[in-house]
Amino acid sequence: MCGIFGYIGSQNVKQILLEGLKTLEYRGYDSTGIAILDTDITLKKCVGSVSELDLTISNLDLPGKLGIAHTRWATHGKVTKKNSHPHISVNKEIAITHNGIIDNHKYLRNMLESEGVIFESETDSEIIVHLIAKYYNQGKTPLDSVKSALILINGTWGICVIFKNHDLIICARNGSPMVSGRGEHGSFISSDPHSISKYTNEMIFLEDGDIAILKDDGIEVDSLNGHSSKVVKFEDTWEITELGDFEHHMIKEISEQPESLERCLSGRIIIDKGFCRLRGLELSERELSNKINIHLIGCGTAFHASEMGAMAIEEISGISAKASVGSEFLINNPIIKMDTIYIAVSQSGETSDVLDVVKKIKNAGGLIMGVINVVGSTIARECERGAYMHAGSEISVASTKVCTNMIAILLMFGIQIGRANNLSEKDSKNILQELNILPNKIRDYLNDPGDVLAAVELIKDSKLVFFMGRGVSSIVAKEGALKLMEVAYIPCLSYPSGEMKHGPLALIEEGVPVVVILPKNKSRERVISNIEECRTRGAKIIIIHEEDDNEIIEYADVSIPIPQTGKYISPIMSNIPLQLIAYHTALSLNINPDKPRNLAKSVTVH
Ligand code: AGP
Repeated sequence: MCGIFGYIGSQNVKQILLEGLKTLEYRGYDSTGIAILDTDITLKKCVGSVSELDLTISNLDLPGKLGIAHTRWATHGKVTKKNSHPHISVNKEIAITHNGIIDNHKYLRNMLESEGVIFESETDSEIIVHLIAKYYNQGKTPLDSVKSALILINGTWGICVIFKNHDLIICARNGSPMVSGRGEHGSFISSDPHSISKYTNEMIFLEDGDIAILKDDGIEVDSLNGHSSKVVKFEDTWEITELGDFEHHMIKEISEQPESLERCLSGRIIIDKGFCRLRGLELSERELSNKINIHLIGCGTAFHASEMGAMAIEEISGISAKASVGSEFLINNPIIKMDTIYIAVSQSGETSDVLDVVKKIKNAGGLIMGVINVVGSTIARECERGAYMHAGSEISVASTKVCTNMIAILLMFGIQIGRANNLSEKDSKNILQELNILPNKIRDYLNDPGDVLAAVELIKDSKLVFFMGRGVSSIVAKEGALKLMEVAYIPCLSYPSGEMKHGPLALIEEGVPVVVILPKNKSRERVISNIEECRTRGAKIIIIHEEDDNEIIEYADVSIPIPQTGKYISPIMSNIPLQLIAYHTALSLNINPDKPRNLAKSVTVH
């Protein structure tokens, strides 16, 4: 999942490309590069982030009013300058950028090599420029050369192509997001509408099979499958947030949770009537009567939030609910059930593993809705019905404030359909009052987060960290483990605490940290026994517990009290100290938590 940007117009293109790349860096930061067409095509690329490329070219005079740019998340070929994009043809007349994966790259590379093409890189993407050059050198037009090349390729792509002696950029989409728009002084193309929204809010979201031809004075859309795209108004001006006084986006986004949650709740909870109104997730009488299952789909943190949501929805509404991992859902060719409400949960709204599920359910005539953060994203547009999380832009790869809003929306959905089922006004009011005061409870906790740094001291040099809990807390444990792994690179295992004695306990030895999520509920005593089993073998125990549960402190090497909340709210509350532990552990290991190695914010490959 790379970031692609392009511009053709009356302005000098270099700075426009660099600014475009900066807004796309969340999509990959292994290497970056630009190609600018003046009389010839000039390529400038480097390993590392956009700021490194900026350093190398800032003093260079690179004239040209047409160019393409790329920020890479490596899939095929190591992180080297040779493997970074753009790739250029042997005769230096054509350059391309690509986001996606070419499944039949081996076959096409062998075919091209047997025709005498010498490859510069190890990437699958380089095949595209040589294929296009093959047809272009046969005298085909730029557009026909691109079309002929794409017909041979199996896989996913978002591509931009420039040709020496041609004032145009040809762009195509199949699976990877691509959006174009005309600004005051030219035409733009990008992987993300937010990186061109400062130039225009009139956008064309390319669909699979679309080919756009960008010229200084306009954009034409052609298509490999006869589809026609239309210009839509893009309302969401996403503030690319400056760090301000914060050192990293992750800690900034953790501290934004009270306001982000308030935005998510605003206008959606009617406490005095015990109702929730999520307009985009409303169901007709008929749907309510014949839909008896709820099935949530997500990946990573979105999957964990879906699991927590499914537990609450089933208990609150009395309707059976479950969650599946997006990348596994299609493996066993599942039957798409007509008695089921499917909900795709995603921050970016671009995760390919979830997008494929959405398309499968739609094609089967199933009911699919979305719970999405990024406005105008592909999954949001594919779902047509759904609710936005209103968390604002989440830049840090590790998802924090969005996880909180995901769980909150699923909880509200549970109440919304619960009230149409057997949920009483009284019970609904209790949960809504809890939800309504939660932003302040989070504010209080963030003002006094407890002994997080003592927990970091126990964790930072460990070779393995356990996370455990029971019921929904065992899922919070999974989310805590994911956060620590992705930003501090420490191997973690998370288990329902009752499962430890069935195997994982064998890994417990002197000093192994065990993080326990332990709200005061009916399984408390059982969890205490599981803690004792670990302590007996020398584990260091870190307990996340409710502030008035002082008895539990004696079982802890580090105790982190959190505000007391009801059972449906405790997953959100107990997740926040885990976010802080991960963040501060990364800092203690001099790791930049915003750009963890090998990861990217939006996963648009399979
Ligand atoms: C979470 O911190 C990770 N960035 C990752 O697991 C993420 O949740 C997953 O890739 C799903 O992304 P999405 O919500 O944008 O679909």
